[in-house]
Amino acid sequence: MRNQTPVSATRYESNNIESHLIEKRVFNPPEAFSSKADIPSFEQYQKLYRKSIGNPEEFWGEQASELLVWHKKWKTVLDWKEPFARWFVGGTLNVSENCLDRHLSGSRRNQAALIWEGEPGDKRTLTYQQLHREVCKFANVLKRNQVKKGDRVIIYMPMCPEAAIAMLACARLGIIHSVVFGGFSAAAIKDRVLDSQAKMVITADGGYRRGAIVPLKRNVDEALKDDEHVKKVVVFRRVGNQVTIREGRDVWWHREMEYVDANCEPVPVDSEDPLYILYTSGSTGKPKGVLHTSAGYLLQAALTTKYVFDIKEGDIYWCTADVGWVTGHSYVVYGPLCIGATAFMYEGAPNWPEPDRFWKLIEEYGITIFYTAPTAIRAFVRWGDEHPQRHDLSSLRLLGTVGEPINPEAWMWYHKVIGGGRCPIVDTWWQTETGSIMITPLPGATPTKPGSATLPFFGIDAAVVDDQGKEVPPNVGGKLVIRKPWPSMLRTIWGDEKRYKKQYWSEFKGMYFTGDGARRDKDGYFWIVGRIDDVLNVAGHRLGTSEIESALVSHLDVAEAAVVGRPDEMKGQAVVAFVTLKQPKKPTPELRETLREHVAEVISAIAKPDDIRFTDALPKTRSGKIMRRLLKEVASSGQVTGDTTTLEDYSVLAKLSGDGKESAS
Ligand code: WT7
Repeated sequence: MRNQTPVSATRYESNNIESHLIEKRVFNPPEAFSSKADIPSFEQYQKLYRKSIGNPEEFWGEQASELLVWHKKWKTVLDWKEPFARWFVGGTLNVSENCLDRHLSGSRRNQAALIWEGEPGDKRTLTYQQLHREVCKFANVLKRNQVKKGDRVIIYMPMCPEAAIAMLACARLGIIHSVVFGGFSAAAIKDRVLDSQAKMVITADGGYRRGAIVPLKRNVDEALKDDEHVKKVVVFRRVGNQVTIREGRDVWWHREMEYVDANCEPVPVDSEDPLYILYTSGSTGKPKGVLHTSAGYLLQAALTTKYVFDIKEGDIYWCTADVGWVTGHSYVVYGPLCIGATAFMYEGAPNWPEPDRFWKLIEEYGITIFYTAPTAIRAFVRWGDEHPQRHDLSSLRLLGTVGEPINPEAWMWYHKVIGGGRCPIVDTWWQTETGSIMITPLPGATPTKPGSATLPFFGIDAAVVDDQGKEVPPNVGGKLVIRKPWPSMLRTIWGDEKRYKKQYWSEFKGMYFTGDGARRDKDGYFWIVGRIDDVLNVAGHRLGTSEIESALVSHLDVAEAAVVGRPDEMKGQAVVAFVTLKQPKKPTPELRETLREHVAEVISAIAKPDDIRFTDALPKTRSGKIMRRLLKEVASSGQVTGDTTTLEDYSVLAKLSGDGKESAS
């Protein structure tokens, strides 16, 4: 590893998007890595990037011929009527066939597709042929239970091979899946069932998390209490806990699998037929159903997996994300399987039974590529170096991160303690909406700087612009936009085209607005600053402030709530809630705890406020808009220094400042 000359970055401040990060370290890709990599030099990256941006349609067309198996070739690569894109128009293919059947003709047939370990330590390996067989059988189960192409199915499962099998079986029949993270509550399932009008829920009796059982089936029962849409619930037996089976609606996975055979032809679907809906938080209360379609999504997921993770024969690749998040969709299931990789999957918590579980797994399975989140890395740092140091991590050759900006010090720790100084790190920027990685180093080509996602992937025209949509000079902060459509972009928000247009395409003409603030340094490297809307990023999870507010206000005793983020060393952001109570309710420590639990119940434990501050009133503008900016200042420093001229009632602020807990119990 050679260190290059330091690159300077200046302080800047603009449009409330601030960055005070000055990072001078540069790491070139190690020679040993580059020499074997798909893209072996920076010049190669630049050459191919220029070509891809000069003629994106030609570039994507070539990639689509090379990487995907088609039933019918497309007529037009891109039909773009802003903001609606159709990619590979006229083509038909099947996503599960691309992930499975294509690998069955040669030696890959008997290669492991998924290697899995459950939290209690149980193990399973599925070769491509075995996985294919399970997917075909389960697709026949779906048929048997009357779900058809275009229908929606909710998948609410623990991290086990059956989650991937369920997704791929849906894809095999053109059924639209919507995976709901297993850590979400009954209310979240209910919302998603309603919004997507799902006909079926696929779940398990339970799952393991930190030694305890997560009662998945019970949550589904609760969610479906008054539901009339869902006709069938398929229950996979994972833990063997007691569950209630409702006759006529609920069926056992293993029973159903006995009735079906293992032949199921993949149904060819149109390039633009929906593959899945994935709900993500927005800045207003209701989660957004991000819609991804088939060909373009699969192509870009596969191409980025190939180049960003540089997967080769013999690699064991582990992306730690749950299938409930987009990372689990693109980089546990669709991308790796499409290119014929061997993916490792783990069910449980990183610190169960000991804080060294991940390192133990890396040693035992000989993991070569490891992709995780900065929030996890910060937790590892806190738990201490002795845990990774107890294990032989020499199989690792590449590390990755995703989900939020990684602090340079956490990057350095990851590089030294986990990567032994020899593994490149790919810091990958993307979003649920983008479907796949957009800004990232290529491990054999791009010199990396700790904390920067570096440069755009092929075909991606990313830029930082001011409020007028004009590109800003180096080291000036602005808004991160994408100026050309890309194959794995979201197509719309399920059932809400207006919101799709407004949210992503109304800020600037002809540009997709990411909602992130960023700057580029003089080498063109992107430094992501974070969200500029009212969305929090807690431990890599995106949470809308207004969703948490709505959850709080749904409690009988709460009158009003405002939620802001406070910088947090471990989680990136911590959730701070300002709450006013209904008269004559008085604040007590018990009530604070009740409210925290209430949020966990309504949304998820992730959304639980770290801090609840009771107050008599919230600072508002004359038009009644809560001034979150001021609350943010109070939450992080206890003081307000910013502009307060639009404040309606100054006394409110005086009460909130100081220790910030004026009227708290
Ligand atoms: C938001 C998207 C993409 C899968 C996981 C999160 C932030 C994501 C990075 C990164 C800085 C990042 C952005 C983005 N983000 N990756 N490498 N560096 N910030 O998906 O829940 O849709 O969240 O996560 O703010 O907009 P998501």
